[in-house]
Amino acid sequence: MIRRHTPSAIFMHWFNALCWLLLLASGLALLANPDMQPVGAWWPRLWNGALGAGGLLDLHVTLGAAWLAVYVVYCLLYLRREVLPFLREIFRLTPGQDLAWCLRKGLVLTLGEPAMRRLGLNPELPPQGFYNAGQKLFAIAAVAGSLGLVLSGVLLALSRGLTDAENLVQWALFVHLACAGIVAVGLPVHIYMAALAPGEGPALRSMFTGQVPEAFARHHNPLWLTEPDGPGVMRK
Ligand code: HEM
Repeated sequence: MIRRHTPSAIFMHWFNALCWLLLLASGLALLANPDMQPVGAWWPRLWNGALGAGGLLDLHVTLGAAWLAVYVVYCLLYLRREVLPFLREIFRLTPGQDLAWCLRKGLVLTLGEPAMRRLGLNPELPPQGFYNAGQKLFAIAAVAGSLGLVLSGVLLALSRGLTDAENLVQWALFVHLACAGIVAVGLPVHIYMAALAPGEGPALRSMFTGQVPEAFARHHNPLWLTEPDGPGVMRK
């Protein structure tokens, strides 16, 4: 077995996932305008019935503040050991290879390998490093979306009750909804690709145990295995 995730990174992933799901659910309920409500009027009614309109907003803001506070502490404690290496990894883009990986992976999942071969298309995926191209794209969207949500969310929370900041509030709300929307669209794809797609069982288990079988890593992340600061040093 090979170590892939540290206990602190695993904790932060699941803490982040829980906060995101609760913030998305409560944020959706805050969309009172029926024209902007993708779920239906029953969703805000349900939450407002349970918490009251003020209570729902208080819950959303408190959750967002707790999420931000834990992230600030994590970033301060683990900046050099985990945060910077993670950012370096997700921004290690190789546009040609990454595009080829995304297109071929999409075709493999929709058409299947035999149909691709019959059409004369190459189904072989370009070799990937620690993260594959799809994971890098989602991670960049999640990081950028989270930063946009934090900045606009803090502005919105500070301007609560202010009547002369309407223009600023409208812009902050637009950024807040756009960032939440972008990550919300990517999230089902992330959950399917990282955890539920056929053959991804070891990746999901690694988000609990921290380890992946060497054969799985050799198949999914061959470039990672050959890197000087790759998993060799962490092998059990
Ligand atoms: C129930 C929900 C979720 C499940 C089952 C899930 C599953 C996983 C798994 C199995 C991995 C490990 C992939 C690997 O080892 O290569 C992973 C990584 C990751 N997850 Fe999640 N995740 C969930 C929610 C979220 C949420 C809400 C976010 C952020 C908004 C998120 C962001 C990430 C990121 C940035 C990574 C690293 C890069 C990547 O694999 O895309 N995840 N997730």
